[in-house]
Parts: sequence; C-alpha cells; structure tokens
Amino acid sequence: MKKVLSGIQPSGKLTLGNYIGALKNFVKLQHEYLCNFMVVDLHAITVPQDPAALREQSEEAAALFVAAGIDPSKANVYMQSHVRQHAQLGWILTTLTNMGELERMTQFKDKSEGKESIGAGLFVYPSLMAADILVYNADLVPVGEDQKQHLELTRDLAHRFNHRYGEYFTIPEPYIPEVGARIMSLDDASKKMSKSNPNPGSYISLLDPPADIRKKISRATTDSGSEVRFDPANKPEISNLITIYSQCAEISVAEVERLYEGKMYGAFKKDLAEVVVGVIEPLQQRYREIRESGEIFDILAQGAERASEMAEQTLVDVQRMLGFITK
Ligand code: AQP
Repeated sequence: MKKVLSGIQPSGKLTLGNYIGALKNFVKLQHEYLCNFMVVDLHAITVPQDPAALREQSEEAAALFVAAGIDPSKANVYMQSHVRQHAQLGWILTTLTNMGELERMTQFKDKSEGKESIGAGLFVYPSLMAADILVYNADLVPVGEDQKQHLELTRDLAHRFNHRYGEYFTIPEPYIPEVGARIMSLDDASKKMSKSNPNPGSYISLLDPPADIRKKISRATTDSGSEVRFDPANKPEISNLITIYSQCAEISVAEVERLYEGKMYGAFKKDLAEVVVGVIEPLQQRYREIRESGEIFDILAQGAERASEMAEQTLVDVQRMLGFITK
C-alpha cells in the first residue's frame, strides 16, 4: 500500500486555509493510502512559542484532525515529537543539505523578514521536513502551494542520499489540490491566510464562533466593483472568496459564478458566511465531544507507536548505510 505523510504546525489556531489546503484532502486520502498525519510541534518551535499556548494548540490541532474526519483506526494521528526518529533523521539530512539550498527557501525569507534575531531552526527546518517524509519512505505528500519548494528539496535530498550511499529512499510526489491550494488572507489577498497572522480578522479559525465567522466574512476586503467573477489577477479578493465558497459548498468555481450572476457582493458574502458556518459548525460539535472525552491522548499514543515502528526501521537502515555502528 502506498504511503502518505503530512503535518500541520500547532503555531496558532488551525484556519480555514489549513482545512481547505490540507485537512480536507487528508480525509479523502485515508481511504486509499497508509496515512501518517502529524501535529508538527518540532516545526512550530522554529519561531518562539509560549509553552502553555503551544500545549493547548497541540491538543486542539490533534482533536481538529479527528473532528475534520480523519479516522484514527485508518490513519495514524500523532505528535511529531513523539516519534524521535524524525529529529534523528533530520540531523542526518541537515548534514546533506547545502546552505545555498536553504537560503533560497521563500518561506524562510518571508518568516525571517524584518526580524533582528533569526533562529537557526527556522533556517534548517526544511531538512527536518524532508526527514518527516523520508523516514516513512512516503510516496505522496498532500500540501498547500506554499510547501511545494520544501518538497522539491526533499526530493533532491532523497536523490542525493541514493546517489551517495545506494538506492534507498522513495522519491515522494506532492499532492497539491487544483483549487484551494492557497487560500488568501481576508484583509490582504496578496498574502496567504495564516494562523500566526497577528490580525485575527485576516483568517477564519476553525474554532471561531459562528458569529465571528459571519463578521469576518462581511468585513473581508473586496474591490470596488460588484461582479462576482473569478479573476485572480484583477479581482484577487473576490476570487479568494469564490474559492472558499466552492471548496466549502463542494461545487465548481463556474457554478459559484453562475449562482451569483447579477447579484451584489453583499448577498454573496452573506451566503458565503452560511456555507462556511455550515462546514465549521458540525466540525466544532465533534471537536467538543473529542476534547471532553479525553480520547485524543490514546489516539496520539497509538498513532505514535505505529509510526515509530516504521520510522525505526528506516533510521537503522540509513545509519548502517552511512557507516554508523548500529544497535
Ligand atoms: N492559506 C492556506 N491555503 C491553503 N493551504 C494552506 N496551508 C496552510 N495555509 C494554507 C497548508 O496547511 C498545511 C499545514 O501548514 P502548516 O500549519 O504546517 O504551516 P504553514 O503552511 O506555515 O501554515 P500557516 O497557517 O501559515 O502557519 P504559520 O502561520 O504558523 O506559518 C500545509 O500543507 C500548508 O500548505
């Protein structure tokens, strides 16, 4: 059975962007592949995190995975830090990575921009992400558009290792949805919707109360026109809202355009808010049940145990191929 690996950082409250670009696809893939879905806490600490907030956000994220429809009896759901082989293989792959490759990463440039002090972890994090994927010899990696460059590096590192030490790693393929791979910010359609954006009005959190979701959508920036038409180059804000509508209502972009032909932005936004609430409200209901039951800790422990077994085999093989004395 082919293997899938993906993760989401507990660096804030998961957003509608994370849902459309990642979680929704995780749910589909679990029926066809052996799936490992992690809450990537080791990645989250590449920028400073408040310990209490990190703990809460980690538990929230894991519970949201399950609330969104990931079935822990089908897919492994776990914390990245619970499978220590990620960090161990991460170090090995860091030694195979060139500085120039990391310097080219646009996410590093974006996240370090204007900062006086930049942690080395933020710089080398793509090597750890490569280890996340290669430690399971994953075939497919469902990611949003922003992660494409990191996946390219993973493929290069896999080729490099195979060339130097012998064929071992599977070269993973990205799985990027055609629509919804990059949901943009509600206040600035030139930036992607991000959970760590300091302005909560810029994103819809999966845990926002419905009243807040309605307010955020009604306040979302739009152009001065009135035509509900998908045209990302000239009408990026409304095109972003159309994408969100299409993804939440499970209808095509063309169908959304047809539904709102001749209608004003106000009416479209009002309906969009109901469509989004219609997806998020039942998810929140399941989320509350999961949190109240406390079951998430068992789910995480079982997921980590199964994932560790696969990861340990890879780590020992790689260490042996490198010339380490293995246990
Ligand atoms: N706006 C988005 N549209 C579509 N997909 C998105 N993803 C994130 N934002 C969007 C996808 O969600 C997965 C998990 O991402 P992540 O949380 O690990 O890191 P990120 O891409 O850096 O997400 P954020 O929300 O922007 O986090 P912060 O603010 O902490 O940096 C990935 O597959 C990502 O592509």
